Amino acid sequence: MSSQHGTVKLIDVQQSHLEVFFRNQQDTEANDLAKVFPRDRDDFEAHWARIMSNPKTIARTILYDDEVAGNINAFWIESELYVGYWIDKAHWSKGIATQALSGILKIVESRPIWARVATGNAGSIRVLERNGFVKIGEEESPETERYAACVEGIYRLD
Ligand SMILES: CC(C)(COP(=O)(O)OP(=O)(O)OC[C@H]1O[C@@H](n2cnc3c(N)ncnc32)[C@H](O)[C@@H]1OP(=O)(O)O)[C@@H](O)C(=O)NCCC(=O)NCCS
Repeated sequence: MSSQHGTVKLIDVQQSHLEVFFRNQQDTEANDLAKVFPRDRDDFEAHWARIMSNPKTIARTILYDDEVAGNINAFWIESELYVGYWIDKAHWSKGIATQALSGILKIVESRPIWARVATGNAGSIRVLERNGFVKIGEEESPETERYAACVEGIYRLD
């Protein structure tokens, strides 16, 4: 896959990539966009252990010109399949998330596929819409240990 500047590839997640993901999820600006609170080391490791041991979750590392630039996952919450992604701030606005989402949608064939995004996260909304997701509603999301209070847009690709 070719983005505006370089080549985007999805590969299996390796243990060594987790250090990059851990740093990415500590970034304040990224957390403000995604309306989440970062996980501490123990929670982060437990979270990734769950991802890696769940055969129904499709997790991929995003490589940008062979550098680890983020991750993208498709995961089930009850009977609904969701997608989520996170890009290293150093690589924002290069088309990487758009390409990575397009790539995982070719790997994961089940539809519909859902995404929830804070209504202020304009970059992520653009990524979803460019991949054909349609907004079907909004929901107030209360503050929890993991999430900041926000209004979430609910997106679906049929
Ligand atoms: C949201 C996020 C994934 C976008 O990744 P990315 O690789 O920069 O996305 P892309 O470059 O493919 O596309 C983003 C688009 O939104 C645009 N954009 C970015 N920030 C924007 C803003 N504040 N307002 C309007 N548009 C914005 C970019 O210019 C780009 O559009 P363009 O290609 O037409 O110029 C990245 O910012 C990120 O990882 N944020 C933290 C985690 C997160 O929010 N995850 C998603 C949770 S739902």
